[in-house]
Amino acid sequence: MHIAVIGTGYVGLVAGAGLADFGMKVTCVDKDVEKIEFLKKGLVPFYEPGLEELIRKNLKAGRLRFTHKLEEAVKSSLVIFICVGTPPNSDGSADLSQIKEVALALAETIDEYKVIVTKSTVPVGTNRWIKSLIDTHKKAKVEVDLISNPEFLREGSAVEDFMHPDRVIIGGESSYALAIIKDIYRPLYLAETPFIITNLETAELIKYASNAFLALKISFINEVANFCEKVGADVTVVAKGIGLDPRIGSKFLNPGPGFGGSCLPKDVKALVHQGQKLDSPFKILEAVWEVNEKQKLKAIEKLETLLGDLKDKTIGILGLSFKPNTSDVRESPALVIVPKLLEKGAKVKVYDPVAMEEFKRSIENKEIIYSSNPLECATSAEALLILTEWNEFRFLDLNQIKGIMKKPIIVDMRNIYEPATVKNLGFLYSGIGR
Ligand SMILES: NC(=O)c1ccc[n+]([C@@H]2O[C@H](COP(=O)([O-])OP(=O)(O)OC[C@H]3O[C@@H](n4cnc5c(N)ncnc54)[C@H](O)[C@@H]3O)[C@@H](O)[C@H]2O)c1
Repeated sequence: MHIAVIGTGYVGLVAGAGLADFGMKVTCVDKDVEKIEFLKKGLVPFYEPGLEELIRKNLKAGRLRFTHKLEEAVKSSLVIFICVGTPPNSDGSADLSQIKEVALALAETIDEYKVIVTKSTVPVGTNRWIKSLIDTHKKAKVEVDLISNPEFLREGSAVEDFMHPDRVIIGGESSYALAIIKDIYRPLYLAETPFIITNLETAELIKYASNAFLALKISFINEVANFCEKVGADVTVVAKGIGLDPRIGSKFLNPGPGFGGSCLPKDVKALVHQGQKLDSPFKILEAVWEVNEKQKLKAIEKLETLLGDLKDKTIGILGLSFKPNTSDVRESPALVIVPKLLEKGAKVKVYDPVAMEEFKRSIENKEIIYSSNPLECATSAEALLILTEWNEFRFLDLNQIKGIMKKPIIVDMRNIYEPATVKNLGFLYSGIGR
């Protein structure tokens, strides 16, 4: 089976390499020529554990190739996966310009029957819109079938998630196209992965409803954490206590500096927008959003409580990516917190194991001091602020850190330390909700 994957971001690259590993012949396309040249050498332009190895293995086996020419990939493929970005517009709706560009390019190129699979997260109704765009603009009199196959991989464990998903969602109308897609995913079917075969609209909505629910859990536990601080309760124990109820579940109940990343924020906003447009508002998600925006400022409030005016105070920040094991800083709370600290006149030093380059590209500010390790970041700092729970931050030599800081203050927005242990070492410690 020959497959084209359009867009080699996190989703396209992982899906392309994963499908090649299932035994398909995969051609990955991206309009970014530089990226394609990089990928041809077996290099990955971002940090994702295990991805480079998977790509190299399948390049070597001759099952995976890269091109910037869409036509070259599409002509030889029966199935085309669309994996381009759907970033937010300023009104919160999903920007479908990359999808439209691909649909029009496909209309121009396709000269025989194709199955077009949308993996990008797209608003309900988009697959029908893509089909009508292609049908209206197609050069050749050929049929296409659309399949919605949303992706649920998580950055940081994307390869594992793609190879062993919790579920595979396939939406479509043509039984022929559905059979082809089921065949592609046969290795997962044989491994007893649950499959949900449904219509286009349901599949599209499953993706948004999943991300919206995860965001809701995070905002909920963040509000519980803030309440815990007022009443002397410990949010980590509350989360454990409620999470043992299987109807609630223990995952996604860790408080923090607010959710970020390339998916949760934009998908919450896009679903709110879809609801407003159809006069079926998602009031609950509007509140989720509001809570999250406020939560990003919690770290500043905590620093001010401990240090007073932040003007000329040096703050060391550990962690810039929105979560560990990724270099992705899209919508990371650090992108709100760092500028806010600078605005308040603080001196900001930062360190992240892999996300510093992406952070530098996202925030142009010459005053930020980039440190080459956590110790350098803590040196002369009046407070150390932990924003991402990278494992390496859990095992820092806190005695050494205390010796090099100007003041022994830790604001731990991920609760990676035991309060009593850190306090016993002589730190002023503020976790979240404990
Ligand atoms: N990143 C995630 O964790 C994740 C998880 C699940 C779903 N998704 C969804 O998957 C989609 C892709 O996300 P991503 O993070 O991989 O995006 P990304 O921005 O990292 O990658 C998109 C890629 O598409 C390429 N592209 C854009 N227009 C193109 C065109 N006309 N022809 C060829 N290539 C083109 C871009 O150059 C880029 O390399 C989004 O809809 C996102 O919501 C993302």
